[in-house]
Amino acid sequence: MATKKKIGILTGGGDCPGLNPAIRGAVLQASALGYECLGVQEGWKGLLTADALPLSSADVEEIIGKGGTILGTSRTNPYKKENGVLQVLAGFEKLGLDALIAMGGEDTLGVAAKLFKEHRFPVVGVPKTMDNDLSATDFTFGFDTASTLAMEAAQRLVDTGRSHRRVMVLEVMGRHAGWVALYTAIGAGADYVCLPERPVDVEEMVRRLKAAHARKKTALVITSEAVDLGDSGKEELDDFGHMILKKRGVAEKLAEIIEKKTGIETRSAVIGHMQRGGPPTLFDRILGTRVGVAAAQLVAQGKFGQMVALQGNQVAGVPLGDATAALKTVTAEWLALADVLSGAVARKS
Ligand code: F6P
Repeated sequence: MATKKKIGILTGGGDCPGLNPAIRGAVLQASALGYECLGVQEGWKGLLTADALPLSSADVEEIIGKGGTILGTSRTNPYKKENGVLQVLAGFEKLGLDALIAMGGEDTLGVAAKLFKEHRFPVVGVPKTMDNDLSATDFTFGFDTASTLAMEAAQRLVDTGRSHRRVMVLEVMGRHAGWVALYTAIGAGADYVCLPERPVDVEEMVRRLKAAHARKKTALVITSEAVDLGDSGKEELDDFGHMILKKRGVAEKLAEIIEKKTGIETRSAVIGHMQRGGPPTLFDRILGTRVGVAAAQLVAQGKFGQMVALQGNQVAGVPLGDATAALKTVTAEWLALADVLSGAVARKS
């Protein structure tokens, strides 16, 4: 009997809800096409060390509603390790793989794009990140769940804020793209949103918060973790050269500024990694499943060096290079919309 071709699947970078549905979709479609799958453990690290486990349809059957990734993940960058790329190529050989599906954000897929460009490495990418900052795709799974959780947390803050007549500040993740903060703010009806895409206008923020507090006896600010309050530059960097943002304490600093300038008692909260765990929303389950299935199809068609993108309501392959060339950040149209929503009522009062 002819041996089946093998696809390795890995998940790299920060985990997010939707990864398990994507793994499930890829494995179910690959099995239906006659492939065997191996689950490469903990991102690129698993290829460096040839660490993988069999991944059958039975293994993935019941994982659609599970948060995290059953494969484990890491922020390992083979390009930052001595002989890292050679080790990845050797690990791929050793595991007897014919193709790889790499699920990740700009870092993981950046490595995939480089490996394809430099070594014609047979890889297909699946976009994942709660940050929603990948180009060439309308959405990444993980974003909907993370923003929905943050929105719910914000609404809880408003309840306690109103009881105590306080201003409440919620800090959300999302790195250097403000999508999570923006969607959370719109969804929770926030009075001001601080995004990394533009400097915080402190005077305008104070004006709006005072007006909102006068009307509602509370006011809500959503801030991105990456907002620059004039004290950037001292942060630790990870393997991909990104700042480790969670140590910056943006919410606490903003709360201090707001309390001082408005004279209204202010409290802050940081949702942090809680927004990355838990069951994926329906949207993320469907998107994860669709891109996972499509990735296995691209492998079967020999379309390597591609990433599965959501464009409108279609999923389609786009060059990995296009997806990783530039970060997708909040546009001027969205900034204008955010201003209308938090500014219009304040202007009338
Ligand atoms: O990129 C996803 C993300 O959740 C960012 O929003 C956040 O800044 C970062 O990961 C946190 O990374 P870690 O899990 O390594 O602390």
